[in-house]
Amino acid sequence: MAKPQKRYVCQSCGSVASRWQGQCVDCSEWNTLVEEVGGNVTPFQAKHNLQSGGRAIALIGLDAEVALPERMATGIAELDRALGGGFVEGSATLIGGDPGIGKSTLLLQAAAKLAKAGQRVVYVSGEEAADQVRLRARRLGLGDAPVELGAATSTRDILTTVGQGQPPALLVIDSIQTMHSDLIEGAPGTVSQVRASAQELIRFAKERGSALVLVGHVTKDGSIAGPRVLEHMVDTVLSFEGERSHQYRILRAIKNRFGGTDEIGVFSMETGGLSEVANPSALFLTHREEGMTGATVFPALEGTRPVLVEVQALVVRLASGATPRRAVVGWDSGRLAMILAVLEARCGLSFSTCEVYLNIAGGYRVQDPAADLAVAAALISALSERPVPADAVAFGEIALSGEVRPVAHAPLRLKEAAKLGFERALGPAATKSDGMRVSGFKTLGALVDHMLGRG
Ligand code: TYD
Ligand code: MG
Repeated sequence: MAKPQKRYVCQSCGSVASRWQGQCVDCSEWNTLVEEVGGNVTPFQAKHNLQSGGRAIALIGLDAEVALPERMATGIAELDRALGGGFVEGSATLIGGDPGIGKSTLLLQAAAKLAKAGQRVVYVSGEEAADQVRLRARRLGLGDAPVELGAATSTRDILTTVGQGQPPALLVIDSIQTMHSDLIEGAPGTVSQVRASAQELIRFAKERGSALVLVGHVTKDGSIAGPRVLEHMVDTVLSFEGERSHQYRILRAIKNRFGGTDEIGVFSMETGGLSEVANPSALFLTHREEGMTGATVFPALEGTRPVLVEVQALVVRLASGATPRRAVVGWDSGRLAMILAVLEARCGLSFSTCEVYLNIAGGYRVQDPAADLAVAAALISALSERPVPADAVAFGEIALSGEVRPVAHAPLRLKEAAKLGFERALGPAATKSDGMRVSGFKTLGALVDHMLGRG
């Protein structure tokens, strides 16, 4: 009989290696490879054992009746929107974000709302003492909400506690990195501990029908610390984003088994906690003055929601031969390099002796590819010192060929722009418009000619 082969499974990403290594070749995490026993079934053995031992499972058609999961709206509309209507019973939600961004505040506010609505809500903090959380609740004016508060880090203790009586409708664990399970070795926060603790908590939530919310810390590169499998284990992953120096916070659904992703909720951090921002466009648009160069308004789309943001560009000519800087806040720097290259190669504009700065106002992060044309317009305006009209918005995707491509949901973008008082738009050729004056461009060169008054 062949000697069973050893296999080593990365506890972070789940990849399998045939020998032990200090660093996983797939996800580059250190010390995550663990020898797995019992996983040594060769294809030959598998083939010959297939028909015995298992239990027949019920197979159903795609058209079978489905019961939609029960949703529990929190009453915080921006949170419910990001969740796709509210927390789902018996599901697990992971919410990640930089320290101090407001995760605990948001969850405390949601917990208080649900508790006041008569649901059993348990909030377990592994980071702060119960008194600290209570003080914060009082500061937020939520001191009278019947939230059951605990400070604990042992999953066994937590599950014993919440397992008594009626299971909580909402169970918040703040944060998963502070939890530890005594079923396995290792300090809290290690890959295997985070994974094991999450597994136990999720099992409880699924069995008892609680909506579980795990707070997850974020590493420097922006991913949720701990095993990447954590993201696979939960049903919904939300990310709470924003610049700490700005007031605005965006809750973004990255994964949602029960609803659409791309939906965002917008909040503003005030002294009394997070307040909802129902009209984000008005918020990200700073006061606009006629005749300003290097600024354009971009009608971005987040899921089904249009958000108008201001794109600002600054171009500084260098006298010496020093390497010019390119700095970007709120957009992808690779994408900026691409737009600059297209402007150079296809339109004859030269940025090679200029420093280029690009900023999205209000601490907003643009991910929508339709921003290309707005960025290009801001750059052209900054370089030529000719303003983009203050009553115009710009959108469109730019290809390496210099072609301006149509983008999704142009009517929705134009409608939002019209609502906020904009009267014209620069966009891809053949963009249909209701009421708004649209200048359509087939190529980026045509936009340059238009802006420089050449055509
Ligand atoms: P917190 O919810 O503790 O962040 P996280 O759990 O993501 O680490 O938020 C802490 C920050 O929010 C802190 O810097 C102070 C600020 N804050 C306010 O501005 N107003 C408030 O009402 C509260 C509670 C916090
Ligand atoms: Mg916190």
